Amino acid sequence: MSTTIRGLENVYIDQSSICYIDGRGGRLYYRGYSIEELAELSTFEEVTYLLWFGKLPTKRELKEFSENLVKNRKLPSELLDLLEKMPRAAHPMGVLRTAVSFLGNLNGEPSATMEDVLKKGISITAKIPTIVATMYRLRNELEPIEPSKKLSHAANFLYMLHGEEPPKEWERAMDVALILYAEHEINASTLTVMTVGSTLSDYYSAIVAGIGALKGPLHGGAVEGAIKQFMEIGSPEKVEEWFFNALKEKRKIMGAGHRVYKTYDPRARIFKKYAKMLGDKRLYAIAEKLEALVQEHLSKKGVSINVDYWSGIVFHAMRIPIELYTTIFAMGRIAGWTAHLAEYISHNRLIRPRLQYVGEVGKKYVPIEMRE
Ligand SMILES: CC(C)(COP(=O)(O)OP(=O)(O)OC[C@H]1O[C@@H](n2cnc3c(N)ncnc32)[C@H](O)[C@@H]1OP(=O)(O)O)[C@@H](O)C(=O)NCCC(=O)NCCS
Repeated sequence: MSTTIRGLENVYIDQSSICYIDGRGGRLYYRGYSIEELAELSTFEEVTYLLWFGKLPTKRELKEFSENLVKNRKLPSELLDLLEKMPRAAHPMGVLRTAVSFLGNLNGEPSATMEDVLKKGISITAKIPTIVATMYRLRNELEPIEPSKKLSHAANFLYMLHGEEPPKEWERAMDVALILYAEHEINASTLTVMTVGSTLSDYYSAIVAGIGALKGPLHGGAVEGAIKQFMEIGSPEKVEEWFFNALKEKRKIMGAGHRVYKTYDPRARIFKKYAKMLGDKRLYAIAEKLEALVQEHLSKKGVSINVDYWSGIVFHAMRIPIELYTTIFAMGRIAGWTAHLAEYISHNRLIRPRLQYVGEVGKKYVPIEMRE
């Protein structure tokens, strides 16, 4: 009998040259460059180019790529009308999923080539911040703001959200957040994107499916769960009692644990630096105390702090409402989804694993009138 590997843990389904994770050593590389160096020296635009084209751009290439993103920021009027009609209480990830799907109906012929995937990738990468900011403003009875033609990807998002250009330190923190979220090998949402892509369906269908996978609290949704848990704890004095109660009740600590990292996630270390620099002091103190307990009591079973633990404190410092945090994850991860889709379909093979059947066979069909 063949073995089953639940959750596909440690199953390699293909080879890739996009991202390397050393889960035991706590190291991460995009196209061979360490995440620490990229977070310190690069920008989201440059990292996206690196992920898609496999090399750092020249000045001219980066200028052209960034201008192309800027040109694609604006939403078609049909989508603005749709966003206006979306239920105000819908989860922003649900609205983002619908908006990308709608764009696919305007442009959704099948993408069987890498060039086509990257062309559509530019359009959607550029538009996700506009979709999120527009939705946020509409649901708060504020006039949507047209995307800027001069601001960076990170600064433009904050500008469209708040209606004013962000301070430099917010722009940098958002840029770093997008870099840290841009890519992470074959996680649940990237596998979903690749599975849809492997059927030679269109780019938009694959990305819509990825957004759906990212929304879940065990994946991207954990960024919202982590900050809510710090708020629920309320003060540093209450952390210990809250932690041991959570363990007793077998509740997971949000922003802790990872299928691949069995040690501190290197992205979390970078987010922590920004959380300390910009974040609310009380939330930071609660998170630091909880972190110490996680490291002391859970790291022996390989549970440590992950990327979603500190990021919410950084977004909260930029006056972004919690319900938008997972959409910021998507704003970054669109770069990785697109890179993997383009790489995979360039040597495509349908993704179709098996389930080991444990039911019965050969049962006799009983007509309905004879069933008890
Ligand atoms: C990410 C996650 C789904 C990975 O899960 P996994 O690889 O399937 O690991 P398991 O759920 O099998 O956990 C293994 C052990 O660690 C424990 N564990 C894992 N994550 C934990 C957490 N966040 N808090 C407390 N215990 C945790 C499990 O209870 C289990 O303990 P046991 O062996 O005593 O039963 C899981 O760690 C989790 O739910 N984390 C919280 C959500 C989160 O932050 N997600 C973002 C990931 S980037």
